[in-house]
Amino acid sequence: MPEPLLQVKAIKVRYSGLPVIHGVSLEVYPGETVCVVGSNGAGKSTILRAVMAAQRAFEGEIRFGGVAIHDKRTEAIVRLGVVYVPEEKMLFRPLSVEENLLLGAYCLEDRQRIAENLEFVFTLFPRLRERRRQAASTLSGGEQQMVAVGRGLMSNPRILMLDEPSLGLSPLLVDELFDAIVKLKKEGLTILLVEQNVRESLEMSDRGYVLQTGKVVQEGSGAELLQDDSVRKAFLGL
Ligand SMILES: Nc1ncnc2c1ncn2[C@@H]1O[C@H](COP(=O)(O)OP(=O)(O)OP(=O)(O)O)[C@@H](O)[C@H]1O
Ligand SMILES: [Mg+2]
Repeated sequence: MPEPLLQVKAIKVRYSGLPVIHGVSLEVYPGETVCVVGSNGAGKSTILRAVMAAQRAFEGEIRFGGVAIHDKRTEAIVRLGVVYVPEEKMLFRPLSVEENLLLGAYCLEDRQRIAENLEFVFTLFPRLRERRRQAASTLSGGEQQMVAVGRGLMSNPRILMLDEPSLGLSPLLVDELFDAIVKLKKEGLTILLVEQNVRESLEMSDRGYVLQTGKVVQEGSGAELLQDDSVRKAFLGL
């Protein structure tokens, strides 16, 4: 096995003194798609926030590419190639689709590279090419989600962390978005996905972790977890 690209080791996180993550460990190897599934409030987003140092782990360790990052600032973590697309998309609503995408490339200087990345995003999400001059505020929720993912891709991330990308989307747009994620996976991108769409995300993930009230209660390949009785009962209504 190669070294994990992202390694979360026994982290504990609290909000105003109240512990919500009680010693979670997980790994993402280069080129893997890994998902974290769990009910509302299980702590999925908090784990991603801890990786970004948006919420500090008070115990444990987080390493990226072999380097400890839990004591770094968010900006330094971004520069290492960690990209986080939060649940709230945080687009600049008056700016156009293209302007929002270009903001994702702020740490790149090579203009040629930026133009190639923009082309890559427009090929992945043809709807965004059609709407490139339109203000972000005029897009549907699903299209805004595509902009948020596309903006993350503009900086050539080494890992893309997606927090519930399918939340609130129509089934058609969910399919489009998941197809795009599968394409990214095939391109070799390393992806950490947090999702409420348990079936689809386990189907497209190499491995998954089941999180319950701040603890990992199960882990395995996507296929194993899909077959697992307690996962089926808890999340698939079977
Ligand atoms: N800013 C905050 N201040 C205090 N408590 C918080 C804060 N954010 C989250 N929590 C609490 O931490 C726990 C984990 O929240 P988190 O948002 O990580 O869950 P989640 O698994 O992402 O849930 P969801 O599926 O609803 O997005 C919950 O009990 C939540 O109420
Ligand atoms: Mg969440």
